[in-house]
Amino acid sequence: MSAKFIVIEGLEGAGKSSVISVVREFIRQLGQQCICTREPGGTPMAEAIRECVKGDWQESIAEETELMLMYAARRQLLVNVIQPALSKGTWVIGDRHDMSSLAYQGGGRGIRYDKIAPLRDLCLQVFQPDLTLYLDVDPEEGLKRARGRGELDRIERSGLAFFERTRARYLELANHDTSVFVIDAMQPMAEVHRKVKETLQVQVA
Ligand code: TMP
Repeated sequence: MSAKFIVIEGLEGAGKSSVISVVREFIRQLGQQCICTREPGGTPMAEAIRECVKGDWQESIAEETELMLMYAARRQLLVNVIQPALSKGTWVIGDRHDMSSLAYQGGGRGIRYDKIAPLRDLCLQVFQPDLTLYLDVDPEEGLKRARGRGELDRIERSGLAFFERTRARYLELANHDTSVFVIDAMQPMAEVHRKVKETLQVQVA
């Protein structure tokens, strides 16, 4: 079985971390090696970019700057971690990937797709995940859960309307991509995990 890149997507508070544990266990049971990555982040330089985009600055952050930093971090992770792992047969679980930029910067910030497309092309060429699980949560509930974990960062403080636009774009993208599966993350956690396992059984095993 060739190594696969499985991505978990969703708004803040969607429950990505616990789903990642379920996916990791599923891959282990297949007898395959796997690593987990996060975006932005996952290499020394990409982690510095993560601090940078999540942090507060004494200046306004242009939407285009945020977008380019996301792709810069993604390129580092792809070239230094994801592709080398896949080529030696190690599966990769991605805590976010390109769909986040399309949803947050495209939908949330409102950057037109024709501005994003050249960066996608430069960064990814034809690379794409084998499977994406999008955990769909009502933004109000998601933010409530995120707030319960501590103070919100710069992106998390973008406001409810921003997250509503981001969610709408996620759902629109999922609708047009047969490799993306929408999981209702408003259900009890046990049900979310059951649905994740069922999707993996059908799509991967
Ligand atoms: P998280 O991984 O802890 O959710 O934090 C990542 C934050 O960065 C989250 O608010 C979503 C945001 N983000 C984007 O806006 N665009 C992107 O392309 C990625 C990967 C993340």
